[in-house]
Amino acid sequence: MRHPVLSQMNLTEKIDLLIGADFWRSVSFPHHAIPAMTVADGPHGLRYQGVGGDAHAIHTAYPATCFPTSAALGCSWDVHLVGEIAAAIAEEACAQGVDVVLGPGINIKRSPLCGRNFEYYSEDPYLTGKLGTAFVKQMQKKGIGACPKHFAANSQEYKRFSSDSILDERTFREIYLAAFETVVREANPRMIMCAYNKINGTYCSDNRWLLTDVLRNEWGFSGLVVTDWGAMHDPAAAIRAGCDWAMPGGTQHLQKRIHQEISRGTLLESDVDICVDRLLDCVQSFVAKPAPVKIDLTLHHELAYKAAIQSAVLLKNDGILPLKSSKIALIGHMAMAPRYQGSGSSYIQPTRLVSAIQAAPSWSFVPGCDAYGETSPMLLREARAAAQDADVAVCFVGLPATDESEGFDRDHLGMPEGQLRLLETVLQVNQHVVVVLFGGSPMLLPWFDRVQAVLYMALPGQAGGQAAIDLLTGLENPSGKLAETWPLAEGDVPCSRCYSAPHKDALYQEGIYVGYRYYESANAPVLFPFGYGLSYTQFAYSDLCIHEQIVSVTVQNIGAREGAEIVQLYVAPERGGLYRPTKELRGFQKVFLLPGEFAKLDFALDSRCFSIWQDGWQQVGGLYEIQIAASVRDVRLTTVVEQTDAILPAPPWQVQSWYHTLSGYPTDADFSLLLGRSFSPAPEATKGSYTMENTLLELSQHSLILKAVIWVMCRILKKMYGARKDARNPQYRMAYFSSIDCALFGLVNSSGGKISEKVALMCLDIANGKIIRAISRLLRR
Ligand code: BGC
Repeated sequence: MRHPVLSQMNLTEKIDLLIGADFWRSVSFPHHAIPAMTVADGPHGLRYQGVGGDAHAIHTAYPATCFPTSAALGCSWDVHLVGEIAAAIAEEACAQGVDVVLGPGINIKRSPLCGRNFEYYSEDPYLTGKLGTAFVKQMQKKGIGACPKHFAANSQEYKRFSSDSILDERTFREIYLAAFETVVREANPRMIMCAYNKINGTYCSDNRWLLTDVLRNEWGFSGLVVTDWGAMHDPAAAIRAGCDWAMPGGTQHLQKRIHQEISRGTLLESDVDICVDRLLDCVQSFVAKPAPVKIDLTLHHELAYKAAIQSAVLLKNDGILPLKSSKIALIGHMAMAPRYQGSGSSYIQPTRLVSAIQAAPSWSFVPGCDAYGETSPMLLREARAAAQDADVAVCFVGLPATDESEGFDRDHLGMPEGQLRLLETVLQVNQHVVVVLFGGSPMLLPWFDRVQAVLYMALPGQAGGQAAIDLLTGLENPSGKLAETWPLAEGDVPCSRCYSAPHKDALYQEGIYVGYRYYESANAPVLFPFGYGLSYTQFAYSDLCIHEQIVSVTVQNIGAREGAEIVQLYVAPERGGLYRPTKELRGFQKVFLLPGEFAKLDFALDSRCFSIWQDGWQQVGGLYEIQIAASVRDVRLTTVVEQTDAILPAPPWQVQSWYHTLSGYPTDADFSLLLGRSFSPAPEATKGSYTMENTLLELSQHSLILKAVIWVMCRILKKMYGARKDARNPQYRMAYFSSIDCALFGLVNSSGGKISEKVALMCLDIANGKIIRAISRLLRR
């Protein structure tokens, strides 16, 4: 049934509605009683800038509770906790008059180098899907819409506005679409944000197969598709594809183009009507929002604290933790200025911020390094003296803010050199070193064997400093487990040869072998396996049985103190036949137990546990081991079930390929076999062939004029972000990549009129050597 207002709107009004009014709101039509709908960023808190805010005002949002980032929450494996946080964010959104929060981020962590991994939960689609579902359900229960993002196959920041994610359908379905599928089917989100990138040559915004065939027709999505900010590539194609709402707004060029397409007959008004109808429905659904409740920010801070506790992962403990001594030195800049969130559109202005030194005022403190992890002889001398003087040296180190942001990827997996020198200095004078580690993504820990304990806090939100101290002292018991594998070296990551620069496109050559699916199948050593984490207590597993597809197991706390265990269920297919990971996560539960207490846990198996994608989901026959595990590598109990469906044989191409042997790295030839078509990396555009899909940075390769333009833009950006003295400022770096390395069409869409289509076309002409055309464009009105 069409929305009743639709028939009363004229074409111009309908087209206006399809594009945002400004950075955060839809267009309102008071005479049709259509109010504006307001959206704001998430996902680990509310980033609401109020009316008029734009991309550059990231740090000027209203204060809101900064909960642990998704990288932390992923390690909690706690659907209730994630739901509680979503409900709290919804309350804060409601109080600000926000209708939809742009989260959760449910992209899959393909490489630890992705700059935005801290906004995502896991390398595993099952875990991601369940946590995302909890977020959406609880947020929407409070009357606020959720908007899972970025749909889909958006797992790198490099060239994020124009890269092409090239992958086979099986990989897409089993890994990169699976979490979205779960969230759509189980939680019915009000919105979905389509990603910037292309999928196999077609931009997500223009991708009818993605947005209509799969999302709506197969999965039953009934909400609204919004573009990522600036992502609408070809308005006519996008509208036909089912991309309903282009954000942000504030200019007229997309409206103009839609009018042109309609008058040319290349777009039908009836196509526009479909999107407008969905927009009207969505806007309407927020008219009768619940009244804002009075927010208790103290309670929300306590929830942020609880979440930081539940998400911390104890990576090593030779018995030194919980700390017994009181003569402790806190060493490291992060003890004073916590790393608690990443940079970019998810940046929250916290309502409070507790550092470790505030939480442990009686312990001594020296910074030992600066915010970037750089050190000096003087800082090292101080650190040495403090460490010498203490019974235990607790070092707060990890990734600096400049490494983790939207807009660009990390350059390497290492920690800052200065921090390594700092640890070395401390280790020289004190045998009792505990490391508290911050960062939203794995890093290399060359010092790991020489310290006594390591507590990983990820990016734990505004209460992270207090949580770290309470975990160290044993007031609380760590219970998080890693939601992604930590590799031993960068080269061990299966996509390390094809990930990010210098490839503009995202070549998913490793196929389904992402994270533990690769390390387990290839039997590769890792630093920490997926699902790994220690506790101050111990758990025993017993009584595994299976009855009518329900797996039951008993878990008991056999230690001396209360604690929580994350019990994982993996399904391991028989080897042989079509390539498959040796095991896949198909269930998990987090259970809190007092000393001696036990719980019986049930896990339901469904047909997806035994299926792969091959022209549809196919349940594959054979024997399957059901593994109950404390981590992917710590299997405690097993049993076997048999599926009687047909066995899928290995196709002839598979046998000689990387996907069969997992030895070395996949080659372009392997990738061609996987894709079923000949693959070779796309040639770089050069003078004469640049299009609106290229970036100013690319265009400037052959043009002194454009090099000068970039120079001027950099100066302006540096001034805006105070980066004149410090080009490592992550905000500046993000602004740099989001403008100078943004596809021209995206720049026009999202610059709020600062870069008009005419200016972009002139730049294009200049880069393509068509100077006369550029001048005549300039002179044309
Ligand atoms: C990001 C989105 C974000 C949007 C609005 C985009 O650049 O990719 O995640 O929600 O900006 O700030």
